Amino acid sequence: YVIGVDLGTSAVKLLLINQQGEIVQEVSKSLSLIQERNGYSEQDPRVWVKESVSGLSELLEKFGGSADDIEGISFSGQMHGLVLLNGENQVLRNAILWNDTRTTKQCKEIYEVVGNDRLLEITKNPALEGFTLPKLLWVKEQEPEIFSKAAKFVLPKDYLRYKLTGLLHMDYSDAAGTLLLDIRSNSWSNELCEALELSPDLCPPLVDSHEQTGSITSYISELTGLSTSTRVFAGGADNACAAIGSGILEEGKTLCSIGTSGVILSYESSNDKEFGGKVHYFNHGASEAYYTMGVTLAAGYSLSWFKEVFANNESFEDLVDKVDTVPPGSNGLLFTPYVFGERTPHADASIRASFIGMDSSHTRNDFVRAVMEGITFSLNGSIDLFRKNGKKIVTVVSTGGGTKNDHWLQMQADIFDVNVIKLASEQGPGMGAAMLAAYGCGWFDSLKDCADTFLKVDQTYTPDPEKVKKYNEIFAIYLDVYGQTKRLNERLVPYRK
Ligand code: XUL
Repeated sequence: YVIGVDLGTSAVKLLLINQQGEIVQEVSKSLSLIQERNGYSEQDPRVWVKESVSGLSELLEKFGGSADDIEGISFSGQMHGLVLLNGENQVLRNAILWNDTRTTKQCKEIYEVVGNDRLLEITKNPALEGFTLPKLLWVKEQEPEIFSKAAKFVLPKDYLRYKLTGLLHMDYSDAAGTLLLDIRSNSWSNELCEALELSPDLCPPLVDSHEQTGSITSYISELTGLSTSTRVFAGGADNACAAIGSGILEEGKTLCSIGTSGVILSYESSNDKEFGGKVHYFNHGASEAYYTMGVTLAAGYSLSWFKEVFANNESFEDLVDKVDTVPPGSNGLLFTPYVFGERTPHADASIRASFIGMDSSHTRNDFVRAVMEGITFSLNGSIDLFRKNGKKIVTVVSTGGGTKNDHWLQMQADIFDVNVIKLASEQGPGMGAAMLAAYGCGWFDSLKDCADTFLKVDQTYTPDPEKVKKYNEIFAIYLDVYGQTKRLNERLVPYRK
């Protein structure tokens, strides 16, 4: 057996997988956000460890078999979150997460000091509020006392792995999201560290995602029931792991994943394509491979936000149950899902969401459908960008919350104008983490061989030409809302919490 741990934003999920790729047991522990001010989003890394450790012991209890049969464990982690450690590897402050947008000023500084073109040359990515480097600069500027004690920074799942093994590492797929990795040489960029006056010693050692980084300490073994012989593999960024766990392991394969955030991700065999920084370009969890990706910041989150504010007592199933009674276009109601800003195609932390076209005849179901359509339109903005850069997208594997409802899957096929595949097990990142452990343990010769055994297609949704046409028209209106509401949103900024 192997274990895949998916350290997400809203939960840590643990999967126990056998050699056929079947889920033998699973456990999920919820996590909450600390949002002290508008745009702030933090979590306490010690809570990740506490919940993961108790999740692991529950998983082992449910399993009931011998812990020695669990050969490996690996991780998928929410990206970009800054975990700052002192010389004793103790946490210095709450982690500042990927969806925290306080660092606009630091992003500007990075451009001023490094220059847009040079930054793109080194990292292939723009300076965005969510990434780790601007967060490091923010702490340096705003909390100099804390920063002076910093000896290393890591990302969320690296901290959890450290607590399980006692050893600090970061893998390339997650390091790529820090904006400090030189993607041309796959090493930390001394040039960027120097220009921004950050000590390169802050950066942890780099490893491949399938590399073994240690084994379970006796302390963790006592707490969880795991064996000290279980091998611990580095793991990867959640999006890289979702790619692996959905079989996005060759050119032409594209993923749509809807979690708290949503992504459209496409495999790249080389690091030399040009997207001008409009989409993210990161290292894959498979060695010497890459992926390009567009991000919708509030995908599943928009729907949870809507449920929490307007239908808190209902289950998600009930909330979305009747969306098929509403026609495409939600009877003229249009939603843009920018409840905490947007990344792709508009890298804009201060834009906010809108409902346009509200009518006294609209019902709750119209609103629910409009929210789901708005999220899907935003993801289509990324597909649109890929297509404009010459990428051919005909099939999309859909994972995450967006697959829980058949109507949403059909909506994706109709809005993206592609065949949408739903896998038999849509465990995306957790499965990818388990596959890294399975490959690391030597069960397979390649991740692709592992995917051929572990992943099965459940259903394919094909686009309906009439709906495609209608959605195409509405997508053009959706794109217009951004420009039309940008100035109004800017004027509202001073009144935000
Ligand atoms: C990717 C991103 C999110 C997080 C969510 O750049 O910020 O997808 O990885 O966990």
